[in-house]
Amino acid sequence: MPVMPAAQRIDVVSIFPDYLAPLGLSLIGKARQDGVLDIRVHDLRDFTHDRHRTVDDTPYGGGAGMVMKPQPWAEALDHVVSEAGPMTGPRPRLVVPGPGGIPFTQALAGELAREPWLAFACGRYEGIDERVYEHAREDLGLDVTVVSLGDYVLNGGEVAVLAIVEAVARLIPGVIGNAESLVEESHEDGLLEYPIYTKPRVWQGREVPAVLLSGDHAAIAAWRHEQRLARTAARRPDLLHPSLGGADAEVTTATPGDLPELLTLLLAAGQVATMDTLRADLATGRMWLARRSGRLVGAIRTQAAGDTLHVTAPALAPDVEDEELARHLLDVATGTALSDIRSLLLADPTASTARARTYKKAGYRPVPAGWSRQVPRHG
Ligand code: ADE
Repeated sequence: MPVMPAAQRIDVVSIFPDYLAPLGLSLIGKARQDGVLDIRVHDLRDFTHDRHRTVDDTPYGGGAGMVMKPQPWAEALDHVVSEAGPMTGPRPRLVVPGPGGIPFTQALAGELAREPWLAFACGRYEGIDERVYEHAREDLGLDVTVVSLGDYVLNGGEVAVLAIVEAVARLIPGVIGNAESLVEESHEDGLLEYPIYTKPRVWQGREVPAVLLSGDHAAIAAWRHEQRLARTAARRPDLLHPSLGGADAEVTTATPGDLPELLTLLLAAGQVATMDTLRADLATGRMWLARRSGRLVGAIRTQAAGDTLHVTAPALAPDVEDEELARHLLDVATGTALSDIRSLLLADPTASTARARTYKKAGYRPVPAGWSRQVPRHG
């Protein structure tokens, strides 16, 4: 039997190799045993030559903390690269976790999963001497990517490597059994997941939403989509605008400094408002603004009264005829309120035909005061 090369080789260099022990567990450990992943962990201190195995020193130019010395890092990376066998790609892509890197996303995980060989350099202290990056790029010919898990600071890159390797490895064929479950996941299509339930149907008096027991697959799919939109609007409104049309508009909540511009937009859109009513609205309700290239092009206001959310008509700048943007504002403004609110009342009794269609598509029904929508209890 010919020996198949692993689907991906991963080298990790760290001063705490034991930190990477979890890479021997669970599905990743199994994939290593099965020969799907070839993960090798190296101790940076093995590439020092002094009695104390020193890896850091004080920063030139002053400043707090210590900097990782270039020499052990260069030797460690030279060693990793020199291990290139005939069956592996010619060079690893070097990933250096750090808070100053590009954001780690599902898209980047997918990109890294397509690399035949990854090397990770785990920095500690204030980071690694800049000349190590130059050595890796210029002398070793490596593609170097600094990657951040998020806007916070960890003590070192090891925890980030565990997270990145887990997200990457599970995209490699043969690492997780059920390829189906990869398809339907959060973030893959820019929306968060819908809530999920299992048996029993009633637990501590809490019932599974009836629609899930209905056997009506279309109704279930519609409910799940609605839940995904609501969750995304509530937890990650930043994800909504690329996925929901109005794609080029940035939607934020209003601050007092936005009010003069908002007043101009509302009056241009034919709505009734003064600076005084807007100040009062901002104090007691919420306002969402849509901007394109910094210009205010749309706005919507909401106000909760009991379990009803009163919603104004989405106001658009007169030259912006964009029902997708109107719908988007409606979804963001109402999605963020869904957990407390049982009904939505939209004050727009004289909606245009196009706008009436937008409201109907969003699930609203005409009532004398405008448009109304009931909110399902779970969400
Ligand atoms: N190392 C320290 N902080 C980090 C972060 N936020 N992401 C990745 N690696 C890090």
